[in-house]
Amino acid sequence: MAFRSGRHFLQIPGPTNVPERVLRAMDLPTMDHRGPEFSHLTREVLEGLKRIFKTNADVVIYPASGTGAWEAALVNTLSPGDRVLMFETGHFATLWHRMASDFGLDADFVPGDWRHGVDPNAVEAKLAEDRAHQIKAVLVVHNETSTGVTSRIPEIRAAMNRTRHPALLMVDTISSLASIDYRHDEWGVDVTVAGSQKGLMLPPGISFNAVSAKARAAAKTARLPKAYWRWEEMLRANQSGFFPYTPATNLLYGLRESIRMLEEEGLENVFARHARLAEATRRAVRAWGLEILCLNPAEYSNTLTGVLLPEGHDADRLRGVILERFDMSLGTGLDKLQGRVFRIGHLGDFNELMLAGTLCGVEMGLATAEIPHTKGGVMAALDYLAASGGRIEARTEARAARA
Ligand SMILES: Cc1ncc(COP(=O)(O)O)c(C=O)c1O
Repeated sequence: MAFRSGRHFLQIPGPTNVPERVLRAMDLPTMDHRGPEFSHLTREVLEGLKRIFKTNADVVIYPASGTGAWEAALVNTLSPGDRVLMFETGHFATLWHRMASDFGLDADFVPGDWRHGVDPNAVEAKLAEDRAHQIKAVLVVHNETSTGVTSRIPEIRAAMNRTRHPALLMVDTISSLASIDYRHDEWGVDVTVAGSQKGLMLPPGISFNAVSAKARAAAKTARLPKAYWRWEEMLRANQSGFFPYTPATNLLYGLRESIRMLEEEGLENVFARHARLAEATRRAVRAWGLEILCLNPAEYSNTLTGVLLPEGHDADRLRGVILERFDMSLGTGLDKLQGRVFRIGHLGDFNELMLAGTLCGVEMGLATAEIPHTKGGVMAALDYLAASGGRIEARTEARAARA
């Protein structure tokens, strides 16, 4: 491939752009993972992660992609044949369901149209029906990365509470943590699954389980086979700042730095920034006359927007044109959305001008690929960004907090 000047725009919904500060923080010799300095590092990142997950409970770090953390959540808490309740919100919910079935769990997979999140009323109805309390867990993908739909976890929790059903609540926050408001403790989540490569602004390679006391108690009797993923061994070793096996040392250097960055900006400012950039994106899409895949405004994702192309136009061809002409990668339509949808990632280390460049690339691509649209999406986004201006306040606050 010939050299291309300027920077590539990586606007897929994760892995996201890794900021310089994180890259530099990882550019260090790998240290002895059984030495005193490492134990310091572990404790610092575990404490920091608790603040990010908003929990006082334990957090486990795996040297694995998010799929590993999905598996860990299942095998630590459940036994063969256990009933679980899952919802077909999109591709990732479908994959997690497939994994649950592969493990011999009896998964009730509530069908969905890939344009809505989990319906809290459906959760309530399913649990209310289950008087014998055979359902052991409700599994929800918070932000469906394949569609750009965010399920309403507090409402789902409230629905569960109304039925007084004892099922565990497990939530995949792989594309929401550190980008969209999330509260493990306050929302009564038992296992939160997360990954490094999206809101945490790290390369792929580590993933997480935040584990409530109730989930730890369930782990005592859970009989699904497990070895590598066993929480208890990990938590025992973590107490002294170590791991039961070789950790991803340099990614942990990066994690320490990314937690510092998120806290310097302030988590609430991070969420507000993502909300603002997402709203600007949606205004652009509407101005182009294209359709946002998510049908419920209360469930719009602040980390990515799925965009439907008019019938007869291929979203992957558009993505190809944009990559070729403007050196920008956009997310493909996954599974049954292939060719119908493209996804704009607007999460992680990202700001107004990066979004402006991204939207310019899309608008030029729509023209180049001859997709029917109305010009002016970029302008609609810029007008909104100029008027909303929260970033400046956020910076001032962060500076004041540091002073
Ligand atoms: C919501 C969600 N869950 C699970 C996964 C799987 O994670 P990984 O690809 O890191 O194994 C992804 C990946 O993008 C995701 O977006």
